[in-house]
Amino acid sequence: MNAIAPASATEAEFRRHTVRHTQKFFDWDAFPSNRGFPDLARAQMRYIGAGGSPKVGEPGTLPPDHFTLSLIHKPVGKYAACHAHEIEESFLIIDGVLTVGWEQEGEVVEVRLGPKDMILNARDIGHGFRNDGIEPVLMSISVDVGKPLPPRYLYHPKLGTDAELARSFGAAPGKTLPFDPAGSHPIQQLMARHVIRHHEQPRIRDAAGFSRQVYVGPGGVENDTARKEMWEIPTGVGVQPYTRAVEDAFLVLEGRLTVGWTDNGQSYTTELGPRDLLKTPAGQAHWFRNDGPLPATVWSVVGEAGAETVTFARA
Ligand SMILES: [Fe+2]
Repeated sequence: MNAIAPASATEAEFRRHTVRHTQKFFDWDAFPSNRGFPDLARAQMRYIGAGGSPKVGEPGTLPPDHFTLSLIHKPVGKYAACHAHEIEESFLIIDGVLTVGWEQEGEVVEVRLGPKDMILNARDIGHGFRNDGIEPVLMSISVDVGKPLPPRYLYHPKLGTDAELARSFGAAPGKTLPFDPAGSHPIQQLMARHVIRHHEQPRIRDAAGFSRQVYVGPGGVENDTARKEMWEIPTGVGVQPYTRAVEDAFLVLEGRLTVGWTDNGQSYTTELGPRDLLKTPAGQAHWFRNDGPLPATVWSVVGEAGAETVTFARA
């Protein structure tokens, strides 16, 4: 709770749209289909929308416009059963190493993703994930809100699927292929167009003084719902206020980011730290600046597809 009352309706909205990691809780019961299956345990922290959980509309979680955003914690050794849905879903790894599998007719391609790597799960492709590592996985999941249908489980212990078959996303022994962009299997080729490696993705040097890596959008994975980018904002760099025709969100991954809204000559500002988020609605003038001593790494999600429409001007 903030002790000082907001001076205006805009300030109240600005505060409401600032979501602090420390004010949120991980929910170990977000997905009813996992109940009773300890091997499927995972915890969800919802920032924007329910992200596939039926727990919509809870206080402190922002309603989605074009995309949801949540964090998922996956303990060592646990997995998520292979399922498919009509909505697009991105996994951005924050900590740990996640194995993601895509399945087609009993064959599975598995990819291992590390921090700041991403996969966009294609519509209707069977997919699951598993933590084979030695540390928990933290990732950010976003789904589009076009068709909020529940997932179709393809291999799940509740369906009577054998435990080992479910853990391998439906691949019988010998039916798992490694991720290989040069591979000839159709799933290898499809997956290659949906995986972004942080170390491979080119940095666009924006004239305003920060760098952008396009993860979803022209130059990254092509889609038709949202643009997602990794920004690195050097210390001392900021931009002048800008507006969009759709909402956007910043999720800080590293460093500190000062953010603000401007309205009728008034500016409302706060500093975000790691795993804090600001969502800005369509039409609201907003800006950012790195006042900290270290570079800021920020996951940027914009509620429309296509190229960047904003020309950033250095402040
Ligand atoms: Fe999914």
